[in-house]
Amino acid sequence: GRRAALIPAAGSGERLGLGPKALVEVGGLTLLERAVRALSPHVDEVLVALAPGMERALPPLNARTVLGGSSRQESVLNLLRATEAEVVLVHDAARPFLGAALVEGLLEAVHETGAATAALPCADTLVRAHGGRWAALVDRENTWAVQTPQVFSRELLLAAHERALREGWSATDDAGLIVRAGGEVRLVPGDARLFKVTTPGDLALARAFAGTWDG
Ligand code: C5P
Repeated sequence: GRRAALIPAAGSGERLGLGPKALVEVGGLTLLERAVRALSPHVDEVLVALAPGMERALPPLNARTVLGGSSRQESVLNLLRATEAEVVLVHDAARPFLGAALVEGLLEAVHETGAATAALPCADTLVRAHGGRWAALVDRENTWAVQTPQVFSRELLLAAHERALREGWSATDDAGLIVRAGGEVRLVPGDARLFKVTTPGDLALARAFAGTWDG
């Protein structure tokens, strides 16, 4: 296929404490099923990275599965190596509320530099803390919170991952690796509803919101 969606879903969900996070249900569907359903209409194939044993716990998915690694970065690299698509869209299973318009916007924006991510301008005051105390104010102007989906030319992202592996870099996401490798990433305004389910508080929000979501 020309476009592939890559979903790293192999995390253990330690901060949530309910077993593998991608299998947690929100409004009758697992986080992973929500991600697969949101992305399938936009791509030629969907690939999901799972931890050993997870597949048995899943209802049949409209996706190809790949074994995840010990970090998110490793899981994405395994996904990248399993596809020949020209454009890849990487999306965390942990962000279940993904709308079609944003996916289409990212698939357009990727052509500018080969890399584009959803991100939200920061609305809160930002500070750096030391030992629970306010240490320094971070100038909020021009700060963005980076989300997923992130869309790339596969060749560009694979080169960044392979260099990261050789040189021992790590980043919390794929756009971070592109920047580290000297590339440029377009920021596309995301959505507050794209929040990542990480803590029990996030899960409570997701469950309360799920009934209103028809995306
Ligand atoms: O832990 P966090 O929420 O930042 O993880 C982001 C995404 O990366 C999740 O969807 C998680 O399942 C995935 N992940 C992975 N392989 C790992 C660790 C995390 O696919 N080893």
